[in-house]
This record gives sequence, C-alpha cells and structure tokens, in this order.
Amino acid sequence: MQRPIARITGTGRYSPAKVLSNADLEVMVDTSDDWIRERTGIRERRITESHETIAYMATEAARQALDEAGLGPEDLDTIVLGTATPDRLLPSTACDLQASLGAVHAAAFDIDAACSGFLYGMTVAEGLMSSGNARNALVVGAERLSTIVNYQDRGTCILFGDGVGVALLQPADNGQGVLSTYMKSDGRLADLLYRPAGGSVRPVDQDVLQDQSHMLHMAGREVFKHAVRSMADACDRALEQAGLSGEDIDILIPHQANIRIIDATAKHAGIPPEKVYVNVDRYGNTSAASIPIALDECVREGRIKSGDIVLLVAFGAGFTWASCAIRW
Ligand code: UT7
Repeated sequence: MQRPIARITGTGRYSPAKVLSNADLEVMVDTSDDWIRERTGIRERRITESHETIAYMATEAARQALDEAGLGPEDLDTIVLGTATPDRLLPSTACDLQASLGAVHAAAFDIDAACSGFLYGMTVAEGLMSSGNARNALVVGAERLSTIVNYQDRGTCILFGDGVGVALLQPADNGQGVLSTYMKSDGRLADLLYRPAGGSVRPVDQDVLQDQSHMLHMAGREVFKHAVRSMADACDRALEQAGLSGEDIDILIPHQANIRIIDATAKHAGIPPEKVYVNVDRYGNTSAASIPIALDECVREGRIKSGDIVLLVAFGAGFTWASCAIRW
C-alpha cells in the first residue's frame, strides 16, 4: 500500500495523582530504592484510586486529543483500545469508553497484546483506514496494572504502574504520517509472563485466591533477554520497511519497562541517548499505556517538530512485539 495513509492529529494522556515511591515499596517488600533504581531506572509509579477506571481515564485523555484535532466525540468512527487489564471481562472496555465519551457513531473494540497493545492498535487502525473503513480513529493504550500485581512479590510489584495514553488517527496529509508498522508474536513463550488463573480454563475459586495465581507472574530475567532481542528486531523491521536507518531518527520512544532495555534498544538502533525519550523513572512500566503517554509528553513538551521522524517500539506478554515509524 502507498504510505502514508494515516497520521496522528491529536494526543492525550491521564496519569493518576497518587504516587507509589520506592520508599513506599521498601516498607511493603524486601527491596531498596538503590536496587530498584539501579536495576530498572524506576523512582516512582502512579496508582489509580477506585474511581479511576480505564474508561474514566481514557475519556479524559480522549477529550484532549479530540480538542487538539478540532473534533467532537461524535466524529469518531473507530475506537481501538489496547489493554491487559480491562475494566470488566465483558463487554470490551472500548465500548465502556465509547459510552462515557459519547462517541455514538464509532465501532469500538479491545486488543489484548499486553505492552504492545497500543502499537497493535495503531497498525489495525491504519489498516482500517487503508481499506476505507475508518477516517477518524481513536487508538488507546490503557492499564491498571495495580489491580493484577501481587504486592508481596518483589520481582513484579516494583515495576508496574497505571495510566492511559491516546492518539487520534486521521487521513495523512502532505507526506506526514505512518511510514511503517510491524507486529510479531511468539505464543510458545506465554508462560514467562502471564496470569495462570482467572480465565475460563481456571476460574477464580478459593484455591486461586489462596495461591494468588490470578495475579501477574513473571520470570523477570528470561523476559528481559527476550525484550532486548525483540525490541532490536522491531526497530530493524520498522526502519527497513520505511527505508530508514537509525541516523534518520529524530526521536525514539520505546516501551518504558526498564532503563537497561531502553539503553540496549537505542544502542542497537544506533540512536544516541539525547534522541531517546525516557519517563520510566516517573511512571514505571504502564504496559500498553507507556508509549502513548510518552508520545503525548513529547508533543506537549515540544520535543517533536513537524517533519521529524519518530520511531515507536514495544515488547510485552504473549510474547508480542511491534514498531511504527512516523514522519510527524
Ligand atoms: O513490559 C515488558 C515485560 N517486562 C519486562 O520487560 C521486565 C523485564 N525484566 C526486568 O526488568 C528485570 O529482569 C527485573 C527488574 C524484573 C529483575 O532484574 P534482574 O537484574 O533481572 O534481577 P534477577 O531477577 O536476575 O534477580 C537478581 C537478584 C535475585 O537475588 P539472588 O537470587 O541473586 O540472591 C533476586 O531475588 O535480585 C533479587 N531481586 C530483588 N532484590 C531487591 C529481585 N527483585 C528484587 C527487588 N529488590 N525488587
């Protein structure tokens, strides 16, 4: 297909006000601020209060993006929401967002690709635009990981936070827009990062509550190795497809899971640190929300100018990995 087809005309984000710091975690599990900062780069994360559902947070973020683009909710024809922590198991959180936003003309659905959910969503929305099935598409990355993290497990609870980021996709203009997208999965590695129970195979019962197997389980060191390898692959593929090299990139916005994974990804792609956006220190890993939150910060801080080449790259449970190059 002839690209660009779609471009981002608005962004938005919502981060809960409540902060969970490394010092707070020192009281909850056997860990230390030094260890967390050294091994992950994280200083604090944002955690939702009970009223901050995904639909609530995404409604706030979506309004910012719509305002920027000069659209109203009724102009949306598509809502794609990436999440691994839906508000309810049925119906989709995208439908709850549609109702709360008043996007009465949209088709709305969720995508579960964990931390890659936003970039999977971008790819699907662009595809819908290329087939003539969408013109104003809202792509959302949204998580409340605090609801599935076991705060007695120091291997996971220090990592994750909550939040939402969104992007509005509209038809490309002037050669500006999405230059390439790439998605990949490897389900053979699913059990390295997963929730063993809570689905229809093993519904929640007393035993599950007892052993906490409905919460997030992760083999951290193994996931780390795959993340480094797959983020490198994702960078290569998006660049290759767009006919670009690392030197062409004005800003790299990687999934914010661990500063060591971010550094390895940038080094592999030949992108210097000053062109890499990092906010993992302030938010921790917000899974599907991490890239659109960072993208919105970059836009609002003036870090991205018209014509800049932006590279987005993600990795998550599944495993899934994905990337997207954009001429802004
Ligand atoms: O979003 C995508 C999915 N997630 C990720 O990308 C996360 C990928 N993994 C990671 O970021 C890292 O593997 C972690 C940060 C989770 C762990 O760092 P690591 O350097 O891989 O540590 P490790 O798991 O190899 O553990 C090293 C040591 C162990 O102690 P021993 O066995 O050497 O005595 C752990 O028990 O560190 C210990 N440890 C901790 N110590 C203090 C593990 N977690 C903690 C902790 N505080 N929170």
